[in-house]
Amino acid sequence: MQNYQDFLAETLIDPETLQQRVRELGAEISRDYADANGNLLLICILRGGVPFLVDLMRCIAVPHRIDFMAISSYGVGARESSGNVRLTMDLMTNIKDKHVLLVEDIIDSGRTIASVLELLGTRQPASLKVCALLDKESRREVEVPIHYRGFNIPDAYVFGYGLDIDEYYRNLPFIGVVDLEKYGK
Ligand code: IMP
Repeated sequence: MQNYQDFLAETLIDPETLQQRVRELGAEISRDYADANGNLLLICILRGGVPFLVDLMRCIAVPHRIDFMAISSYGVGARESSGNVRLTMDLMTNIKDKHVLLVEDIIDSGRTIASVLELLGTRQPASLKVCALLDKESRREVEVPIHYRGFNIPDAYVFGYGLDIDEYYRNLPFIGVVDLEKYGK
């Protein structure tokens, strides 16, 4: 197991900047869902969205519930999503008539979130919105709505704060750029 210092090309977003933006998003969401009457449901897509969800929910002042779902995308290598998304763990909550806010770590091609939106849309939620911490907008292949966006980032492979490299480094409190050559890929 390598130390991240060995392949960290640069720190893209430091912990303080991340936390500040999460607080802003939480305040915005609290305002927008002020009348949701406890009917707001945050859905975290495992596993990358976990640190973001945990920090964000503590900055949301209106009553809400949380749930989790897991998906896996298949068809191409681990670093590219194919959009062929398979549900590997479904929600515990019935989302009919709920105000659903999807909490995602990063939107790259847009294929993953597009499939999830399509799936959840069939379950008749009262509303369905997307909150993404990071947006690699220049990589977009599928048009997707992002109602709350943390940061627009350049086209680079990033890790930390939920984002993994081969399932590790999700615990780091910052977003870093990987030097893939130094990582050995
Ligand atoms: P999309 O379907 O291409 O939008 O890919 C979204 C998913 O790919 C995210 O939920 C992440 O799991 C993964 N992903 C995309 N870019 C990165 C990255 O730079 N680092 C880590 N995971 C990433």
